[in-house]
Amino acid sequence: MKRTSVVVAGILFGITVGTSSATAGTTEMPEVAKKHNCNACHTVEISDKPMPGPAWKDVALKYQKDPLAKVKIVAQISKGGNANGRHGNMPAFSNLDKNELDMIVAFIMGLK
Ligand code: HEC
Repeated sequence: MKRTSVVVAGILFGITVGTSSATAGTTEMPEVAKKHNCNACHTVEISDKPMPGPAWKDVALKYQKDPLAKVKIVAQISKGGNANGRHGNMPAFSNLDKNELDMIVAFIMGLK
């Protein structure tokens, strides 16, 4: 519990100072992602609960060794679509600014 609040504080601090804070091992979706309703279709941890989109830990595992991971994830978020084929169609989120994208990508890639 204590660790969770430290991590959450770290994420909030990251937002206020505008830096990205990768928080490996955290299961709570960052506020910046919840603000854009990513949690409507995604969970952080892989679970049995059927969700429209892949668990972000699964995304992190998939891109673990991909040098273009960041570019691909940013493209998926801003353009949406179903280029990855395993799931349905994701709507485009073109309204996230660079800081928000950086924070979310750093969070996802920090999950493995
Ligand atoms: C309406 C449901 C929905 C919402 C809301 C949603 N997604 Fe998705 N997301 C999907 C689906 C469906 C896929 C799978 C697309 C595919 O298979 O190509 C996906 C895929 C992804 C992937 C994996 C991309 C990859 O290359 O494997 C990431 C990362 C992602 N979403 C991030 C986000 C973020 C960040 C938000 C919030 C800004 C968000 N999603 C909101 C449905 C959603």
